[in-house]
Amino acid sequence: MKSEHASNYIFLLYGSIAGIPLLMILYVIFRLIGNGAAAFAAEALLVPAFFVFGILSFIEIFGHEESVPAASLLLKAEGAQYHEGTDSGKSVYLNVKKFNPAKGQFERFSYKVKITRFTSVLDALLTAKAKHDNTLSIRYSCRMGTCGSCGMVVNGKPVLACQTNALDSSKDGAVEIGPMQAHPLLKDLATNFDEFFEEHKSVDSTLYRRNRNEKYKARKVFDMDREEMEKFLPYSYCIMCGLCQDACPVSNSNGNFLGPQALAQVYRYHADKRDQKGTERLEEVDSLSGAWGCEFAGACSKACPKGVDPASAIQLLKSEIMKAKMAGKFKEGA
Ligand code: SF4
Ligand code: FES
Repeated sequence: MKSEHASNYIFLLYGSIAGIPLLMILYVIFRLIGNGAAAFAAEALLVPAFFVFGILSFIEIFGHEESVPAASLLLKAEGAQYHEGTDSGKSVYLNVKKFNPAKGQFERFSYKVKITRFTSVLDALLTAKAKHDNTLSIRYSCRMGTCGSCGMVVNGKPVLACQTNALDSSKDGAVEIGPMQAHPLLKDLATNFDEFFEEHKSVDSTLYRRNRNEKYKARKVFDMDREEMEKFLPYSYCIMCGLCQDACPVSNSNGNFLGPQALAQVYRYHADKRDQKGTERLEEVDSLSGAWGCEFAGACSKACPKGVDPASAIQLLKSEIMKAKMAGKFKEGA
């Protein structure tokens, strides 16, 4: 059976499966109410229904020419490129920059691994770890771009390894891989996020309500229209992967700078109409280590795998700070 006709065929098969009991029920009902002609018609329709069901069941059991995965059906239907996996077995070199504590310097280790069209850099590294070097340290968890733990530098750019295709990343058959720079190194490709998380915590990334009992005794629903929601929603997609921090030239040169992640979260909560912290939140980041430290390089937004756009959040924060100051809302001396 040709895969393009699969959906019509299944529709007919299920139609005949559902039709047979329905005709039987109609036949019994017509007999009970004494409508002989209608009962005869239902009985007559049962014969072709059984015939269609028999033929289609036979095709279903014996008639498949090929087994096509569901995903490929979808890709073919959409006219997308579908790779049957014929290029699996390609090899790439993973050139991993690892720190050698004995020598006090970084060294490049090269692992040759086989990949398919869809192998991620993370999976290629795990293959290298399993087959060549079980000391290779990599941090990861979800493998689906959600936990934010597999950040590393691939071909000079901070990326999520699980969301980066190994074949597409290979240049002349090699992928250059190293740890992120803005976070202290733990081992090999794993970096320490303690400071990054502390920065995030330092800016109160929570919704503030004056009445703290509300969460136990909610009295009302906070209605929000689309426009109000869109003010903060894009900034709430952050998975705390730290890629923006790694890409940011200011974070890399000024250890006091709060960084794009934390600042974007300040704006996320400030822009949320349910938040009641008001200008207090803005006062916390009205400094050179806060919003004014940003030089609007925009590298953070380019690196973000979730489209959070921290660069725009920081510029909006600056404008909110200025507006609050001009309106005299800042505390004396702030
Ligand atoms: S803003 Fe984007 S790049 Fe930065 S930590 Fe959040 S998800 Fe990662
Ligand atoms: S392993 Fe979770 S984001 Fe990559």
